[in-house]
Amino acid sequence: MEVRIRVLRYNPETDSAPHFEDYQVDADPMDRILDLLHYVKWYQDGSLAVRRSCAHGICGSDAVVINGVNALACKVLVRDVEQPIVVEPIRGLPVHRDLIVDMEPFFAGYRAVKPWLIVDETEHEPARERYQSPEDRERFDDTTKCILCAACTTACPIFWSDNEYVGPAAIVNAHRFIFDSRDRGGAERLEILSTKNGAFKCRTAFNCSEACPRGIKVTQAIQEVKRAALFESL
Ligand code: SF4
Ligand code: F3S
Ligand code: FES
Repeated sequence: MEVRIRVLRYNPETDSAPHFEDYQVDADPMDRILDLLHYVKWYQDGSLAVRRSCAHGICGSDAVVINGVNALACKVLVRDVEQPIVVEPIRGLPVHRDLIVDMEPFFAGYRAVKPWLIVDETEHEPARERYQSPEDRERFDDTTKCILCAACTTACPIFWSDNEYVGPAAIVNAHRFIFDSRDRGGAERLEILSTKNGAFKCRTAFNCSEACPRGIKVTQAIQEVKRAALFESL
């Protein structure tokens, strides 16, 4: 079948503003939007800039806006979207070129919440395993699924107007460690997330949960972090 795809193009070296360009691609209904972008890049216009790696929904590098909705280009099928298929870069981050954005403001929020296991070496001999029960592991299972694609943060209206907000993805990744029974950095992270650019900037818009390609209950995780910051001593 013939498919029409419209891509928002922008080359800061030659363009004064972003503009749409249309392409016709011969595709199968089961092709992914990433396949169409590949086709355009490989056979029609090599200057199209697209970021991707795994092509199977794991690496999180090809988040784009497809017909107004944040998604991974490698997970959306041609048969499931209306034509022309409009593809734009994710919003709220500076565009490097075409569909490639500068992820640095996103990763700055991520780094700010110390997304690694913080342990107390004095608790027991390092040679011993850090035991965790299945019930304790279950407490943060949902937030371990994050692939840092930025679909949530770039769907958030607060983040669009304020890059200083750490954003939902950072809070999801803080949640993953705050509620890990082996971790001892929860209080420190909650303190960070209680500052003016932290979790309380969230206005419960729910865009983040709808945008997450991993089905993570992002807004719920944010609410749990807010509640812990207000009521729990970790
Ligand atoms: Fe992507 Fe979901 Fe992680 Fe947000 S929470 S970065 S949408 S995987
Ligand atoms: Fe933004 Fe999600 Fe909160 S969209 S306002 S972080 S619920
Ligand atoms: Fe890796 Fe789509 S290319 S998630």
